[in-house]
Parts: sequence; structure tokens; C-alpha cells
Amino acid sequence: KKKLLVDVDCGVDDAQAIMLGLADPNVEILGITCVHGNTTVENVCKNVLRVLQACKKLEIPVFKGAAKSILGITVGDGSFHGQDGLGDAPDAGAPSLDLIQEENAVSAIVRIVNENPGEVSLVATAPLTNLALAVRMDPTLPAKLKGLYIMGGNTESRGNTTVCSEFNFAADPEAAYVVLNDYQCETYLACWEFTCYSQLPWDFCDAWLGQDSDKARFMAKIFRHSMEEAKKDSGCLGFTGFVSCDSYAMAAALDDSFVTESDCHPVSVELTGTHTRGMMIVDTLGLLKKTHKACIMKKILGITCVHGNTAVENVCKNA
Ligand code: BDR
Ligand code: CA
Repeated sequence: KKKLLVDVDCGVDDAQAIMLGLADPNVEILGITCVHGNTTVENVCKNVLRVLQACKKLEIPVFKGAAKSILGITVGDGSFHGQDGLGDAPDAGAPSLDLIQEENAVSAIVRIVNENPGEVSLVATAPLTNLALAVRMDPTLPAKLKGLYIMGGNTESRGNTTVCSEFNFAADPEAAYVVLNDYQCETYLACWEFTCYSQLPWDFCDAWLGQDSDKARFMAKIFRHSMEEAKKDSGCLGFTGFVSCDSYAMAAALDDSFVTESDCHPVSVELTGTHTRGMMIVDTLGLLKKTHKACIMKKILGITCVHGNTAVENVCKNA
């Protein structure tokens, strides 16, 4: 089985990414580490437990990590994912935070990767604070990873948080800088513009959420708020569906054939600049003199099929 560690700031698309990973029988999620971002790290922990509860996987260990960026800032304002990060949908039966592990998320990343050298892929769908701290604790960590899959950054200087920066990088530019420069392992980036071009049509979302299952009912409940926000203004030009940003990083980690085209270049992050702090830099000419290249996802498998109106084989045939 593929071994994954998942680092999240559990908003709605993080929840979708986690559920995608949990649904894959060929994957073992060794732990989920939580970090500030869409909401407070305490809410993130609670949200991850709610997702695991909905999927009947509460045995997966959940670790609490950094509450603030390296410079001590938090940026999540709750406008898209709700104040609690999962659409502010009441949940009287949420699991107790007592289930959160005592070990800190950063220590857990270092420990789990060292226990499984060369086997663990890290999926990061959040500000990169935990990952930056982990490589400072253990500089040998990146060399022991199988792969690193990040949702974050941007390639066309089109931001969704500041004019030029994507949320996960804007929330902790220093951490993004450390990760892009110090994790010299196989790296895939699902950047903001790429995820914008890969939208889930609204009628697909309706069919998905309308299914008769506990997981679909949970998703429908937490998804309502951000769906309404996205229909008003997603920040993506020409938007016609939902952008489940974090799911693309997860899908790439799950399935080696998911990314059909990528551009690999040295990348870094702008740390100063009137408008550009947090913006990702793509060094197409090699002027930074860096040897390590990250692969920026460009194209993915066109159409994915799922059971629903008919058997999944028929769905594929019809598509
Ligand atoms: C990223 O920001 C968060 O709001 C989402 O969960 C995603 O990780 C998109 O810019
Ligand atoms: Ca996220």
C-alpha cells in the first residue's frame, strides 16, 4: 500500500481531499497533521476528526501543529469556508478533542518519515508552517520522503488572497520559501491557476451530494456555505463550477497516472515586495542556479467516472 501523511488546515476542500485519500483501498494514511490556515488549528483538529468520523476512520492518528505562521500571523477570515472551516454547519455529535494525539504534528512528521524511510509521500494542502519546522528539526527528512504533493502557489501572478499570492503561500511565505528550497525531493505542485482550470461542474456537485450515503450527507452539510460563496465569486476567471483545490494534490499522490503533463522548474517564493509577497517564482531560465526542480501540474486525466446513474463501467463507456 502507498503510505501517506496529510498536512491540512481542514476547510471544505481539505475535507474532500482527505475523503478521497481514505476512499482508496491501496493507500494507508499514517497520520493527519493539522496547521493554522482556513481557521484556527483547534478548529482544524476538530474538523479532521469530524471527517474521520463521517468516514468511520477515527483510528487514524491526528496531530495538532502550528497555530501561527513562522512570523506569528494568521490570515484565515472564515469568509469562504465559514468561521469553523466547515461551513458553520452545526454538528452536535462531533468527536471530542481528547482524540488528538499528545505528540506535536511537527515531531510526528519527523518520526513517521524516519520510521518509514523512502516510503512516505507527504500531501500538504495548507500553509506550509509544519513542513518548514519539520525540515529545520531534521534536515535529512526530504531525502527520506517518497514524494511531496503540495496545493499552493501560483504561476501567473494571479492571487486569490493578495493580488499576487495564493492563500497557502500568502498565509506563511517564509514557510513556503523554506519548503520549496529545502525539500529537494520529488515534488508536485497543484497551483491555484491550475486548480481554477479544473472545476467540478455544478450539476456534478449536485449529483455527488445527492447520493444516499452518510458521507454524501456529511459533505452536503459542510459544503453548502462555500458552494454559495463560490457561485457568487470564486476568484477564478470564467468560473462555472467548484474548485476543489486540495483534491488535486491528493489525487496526484494517489495515482501516478493522474498528472498527464507537468512543467518542472526551480521554484521559490517572493518574501518582500509591495504587491508580491507570497507570490511563487518560477525560474524557467535557471537564473536562480538551483538544481532542484518542482513539477507544476499542467494537465490531468480528462474525465473521471463514478457509479451513480448507472454502473461505473457504463459511466466510463458513456463518457
Ligand atoms: C487553498 O486555500 C485554502 O482556502 C484551500 O483549502 C486551499 O488549500 C487554495 O488557495
Ligand atoms: Ca487547504
